[in-house]
Amino acid sequence: MRILAIETSCDETAIAIVESEGAFPALRIRVLANTLLSQAEIHRPYGGVFPALAKREHAKALVPLLTQALKEAKLWKKTSRHVIEHPMRPALQEIFEREPELFSAFLADVPEIDPPAFDAIAVTEGPGLEPALWVGINFAKALSLIWNIPVIPIDHMEGHLLAPLLETEGESLRFAATEFPVLALLVSGGHTELILMKGWGSYEVIGETRDDAVGEAFDKVARILGLPYPGGPEIARLAETGTPGRFDLPRPMLRSGDLAFSFAGLKTAVLYLVERLPKPLSDGDRADIARAFEDACVEVLVAKTLEGGGKSGARTFILGGGVAANVRLRTALASAIESEFPGAPLYTPGKGLATDNALMIAVAALANKRATKRELRAQGNMRLG
Ligand code: KG4
Ligand code: ZN
Repeated sequence: MRILAIETSCDETAIAIVESEGAFPALRIRVLANTLLSQAEIHRPYGGVFPALAKREHAKALVPLLTQALKEAKLWKKTSRHVIEHPMRPALQEIFEREPELFSAFLADVPEIDPPAFDAIAVTEGPGLEPALWVGINFAKALSLIWNIPVIPIDHMEGHLLAPLLETEGESLRFAATEFPVLALLVSGGHTELILMKGWGSYEVIGETRDDAVGEAFDKVARILGLPYPGGPEIARLAETGTPGRFDLPRPMLRSGDLAFSFAGLKTAVLYLVERLPKPLSDGDRADIARAFEDACVEVLVAKTLEGGGKSGARTFILGGGVAANVRLRTALASAIESEFPGAPLYTPGKGLATDNALMIAVAALANKRATKRELRAQGNMRLG
């Protein structure tokens, strides 16, 4: 199977190309290309992702990234037959009705590419920002039309969930031999959830946030402390020099008896704490607040994962999503699982695979997914399970 994968759900535009051999889950996966263009700099002045800007930037980035990915994979070849005046033009025009800029970029470059041999085009259909998702979906539809390749719609969160299971084997990747049930803690800018997997492709949300996602709380607290977007890595860096225990922040829902999370109150607690302190905040104050906030998040995330593990009899754990890049969370979760569930592995994403990327979308497509003939549409609130 050779797959072209497209991801545009938030503020990273990404295209990957993979090739697999064998039958799922015993696959050998070769990464032929893995490209990504982050818009973080562009959204920085707004302190968060600005949907209309995200849409515009995805539209600008997709055609250059496609060319880059095809060249990286050594699949780029100029065609001798020109398709600009192709009868498909009206259909393309309809697909790109709301993306005129992408339509011109598409017409300028894509028709001269010799149609590459892909078995499927995988594209993120949700969850995420709908204007952003639509750009990737329409791009996938257009490629599917002119190259006659089926499309596989992908749930972004399934990508986050499966990426940590990838292990390297020589030049290839493969899925780790996994014992079920699996409990996955998915933590990103839009999600905080515990997902129980009783087998491949079987997902049940057994716990989730009632308000903000933990990544969103990191971003908002960073803003309170005057740190740039995205706040997660900034808070983590600052927290390293902070003194633990100087400030005491709440552990929301720690003893709620269920697997629900809540991070909005914690963010407000940081806001009140900052209001009480003399201004301007010293570097020491900011570092100590960052440390107190990170410790509060980590403690709740670890405790709920252990609780979920106990309730579900989990034999394998996964930590996925952008916040899985957080070293303190990884370390604390690994040692808690080691002592409470001896022998049960914890899989965490490899380099570049925690935050959004297209490789995880390609990998999700390889996990028993079928192409669809139905009309794809952006699904901002799509849910696993
Ligand atoms: O998965 P992701 O790239 O995008 C979404 O699907 O939302 O996650 C992005 C989130 C952001 O909120 C960012 O601040 C957070 O992940 N993040 C981190 C770290 N790196 C990224 N949070 C805490 N510590 C980090 N090192
Ligand atoms: Zn994500």
